[in-house]
Amino acid sequence: MTEKRAQFATRLGVIATTVGSAVGLGNIWRFPFEAGVHGGGAFLLIDLFFIFIIGVPVVCAEFIIGRHTGLNIRGAFRKLAPGKSWGIVGYLGLLASMLILSFYSVVAGWTLEYIIQSMSGFGGITSVAGLHGQFDSFATSDIRPVIWTLAFLTINYFILARGVQKGIEKMSNIMMPMLFVILIVFCINSLRMDAATEGLSFLFKPDFSQVTPSIMLGAMGQAFFSLSLGLGCLITYSSYFKKETLLLRTAGIMASLDTLVAILAGIIIFPAVFSFGLEPAAGPKLVFEILPSIFMQMPGAMLWSTLFFILLFLASLSSTISMSEITIAYMTDEFGFSRRKATAINISVAMLFGTLCALSFGSLSEWTICGMTIFNLFDYVSSNILLPVGGMIISIFVGWVLDRNVVREELITPDSSVRPWMVTAVITCLRYIAPLCIGLVFIYGLI
Ligand code: PFF
Repeated sequence: MTEKRAQFATRLGVIATTVGSAVGLGNIWRFPFEAGVHGGGAFLLIDLFFIFIIGVPVVCAEFIIGRHTGLNIRGAFRKLAPGKSWGIVGYLGLLASMLILSFYSVVAGWTLEYIIQSMSGFGGITSVAGLHGQFDSFATSDIRPVIWTLAFLTINYFILARGVQKGIEKMSNIMMPMLFVILIVFCINSLRMDAATEGLSFLFKPDFSQVTPSIMLGAMGQAFFSLSLGLGCLITYSSYFKKETLLLRTAGIMASLDTLVAILAGIIIFPAVFSFGLEPAAGPKLVFEILPSIFMQMPGAMLWSTLFFILLFLASLSSTISMSEITIAYMTDEFGFSRRKATAINISVAMLFGTLCALSFGSLSEWTICGMTIFNLFDYVSSNILLPVGGMIISIFVGWVLDRNVVREELITPDSSVRPWMVTAVITCLRYIAPLCIGLVFIYGLI
């Protein structure tokens, strides 16, 4: 590589882009529907355990690998462990990123439809039942969801082809703070609803009698998905970090903000679910059916609704950009492809699979494998299998194989804000706790 590797320009840029990757549909769409399906409070608690006890150290592990090597996911493992098969995690990551990009773009496409719907005041429909019916007939039709998926991916293409700093960093800096503000406004609105207490106790009161292996697997998958963890996205992003970036602090901030957004989304959704007398376990449709009904009750409905779906669309965009970067960095570094060519290949494959995912709510809804549609299968295999397996391999690699001095050097900061015990805690987690917990939940959940 003769060209100097691009780097994020500012500290805010680093935080905004990593948080931009983490915060997206995973928090606002996936977390509420998964929590709804898996009984609420207990799911949240296990999710929190996986985010802070397992997730943060594994995020550090990805950061260490990425920044130390300054390479893509395959190149990084090849440099650190030449001739060994650790690089398999690179292929798993590439596969996971492709599967996620495909189904994620469908939901991001729904946000585009909803921006238009919001601007037209949802065609004058105001009743909860009417708004539900409207989403159903949209999602199960064949043309519009496919067009929106392809449109979303085309937008990705143009941003990605412009490169790291210009495209991604500027957008994240403006968008993330706006998203927080608007979520807080919606939370206040939901907290004033009739069944707010019922909704909140569903979300925050764990009912341990409900805990099953599949809930644990689901919560682990949600934690990894939400942190963009286990597929090399953070290895790729941290290869653009400067030497001065504080890894542990960045990981902590990212996990905290990511969790905050998911919890805010829960506080918005569940009081509304109970106030409207609906089922929390509605699955992927939940959020898109509930949100318009919430907005329609607010003064200035059209404006709020439009603004919200624009921000959700932008949050999805910063996440899909980060997952595409895995494949693009791989193709440009390893095969010397131009950025434009690598982007075109990545987006074209996603367009093909994305179309299948979009149709799996409509004319391909009968196409199932193990009882799952293509959309659900892509989600299940990537979140519940590929990401935890990737995370486990990464934690074993950094915990057991990588030179301990490298780990210390990368984590310890010149301002000594990172104490030696913190480094020891991260290493202990990577050596024992993370592989063991992931392994157990995995075996237990799949059996
Ligand atoms: N973390 C993103 C979200 O919660 O929406 C999804 C995601 C982004 C997953 C990037 C994987 C990834 F590489």
